[in-house]
Amino acid sequence: MPQVTVLNHPLVDVKMTTLRDAATPAYRFRQTLHEMAALMSAEVFRHLEVQPVDVTTPLEVTTGAALPPYAPCLVSILRAGNGLTDAFLNIFPEAAVGHLGMERDHDTHQARAYYEKLPPAIEKRQVILIDPMLATGGSAVMAAAQLRSRGVRDIVFTALVAAPEGVTAFHNAHPDIPVITAAMDRELNDNCYILPGLGDAGDRIINTQKPNAHQPR
Ligand code: PRP
Ligand code: URA
Repeated sequence: MPQVTVLNHPLVDVKMTTLRDAATPAYRFRQTLHEMAALMSAEVFRHLEVQPVDVTTPLEVTTGAALPPYAPCLVSILRAGNGLTDAFLNIFPEAAVGHLGMERDHDTHQARAYYEKLPPAIEKRQVILIDPMLATGGSAVMAAAQLRSRGVRDIVFTALVAAPEGVTAFHNAHPDIPVITAAMDRELNDNCYILPGLGDAGDRIINTQKPNAHQPR
């Protein structure tokens, strides 16, 4: 059984309704993404590895938690990952940030890697891999494999919306990587868009949709 956690929370459902709504303008989409990340963060960062540390309260010394010397890294799958990564960074500003460029071919729907910029000593860091959409799974599978090829051992993948096809493909390729998603949708359409979904996440975040284009191709 795939290690997938679907957030089950009424406020997540309210925010997701705003994100799904084709009439939501880009500025409100981005703002809602930030609010959604705040709700998702408790589950996403549950997997963080911390170390015990002494902390002196006004009354006594007790044991607290500290991040490891190499800060965990938020890795954004470009472009759409940037919106969600910025939102997580607001909540976890101590994190490092890396970028992997992945682009789906419009006709074959196959992912293609076009960019990589990761912080030093990435192999010593825990990675939270971030992409709002897990559709066929091609982009996330390739991104996780690229991180593995750089020596990263501890990865958590998080999405806003996942399709069952993508979860299965990701789990088949990377069975040890937990997946956390705010919603598990029904299926993919003939163009490998998620149904009901929210359309093209990248376009909606950076406001590059065609005027009145509610239907992605
Ligand atoms: C979208 C999305 C994911 C990918 C998901 O990116 O942000 O990266 O598609 O689809 P998959 O699971 O079938 O690979 P896209 O290629 O449209 O690039 P963009 O973020 O630059 O718009
Ligand atoms: N990429 C998106 O942005 N949306 C989908 O539904 C599928 C892939």
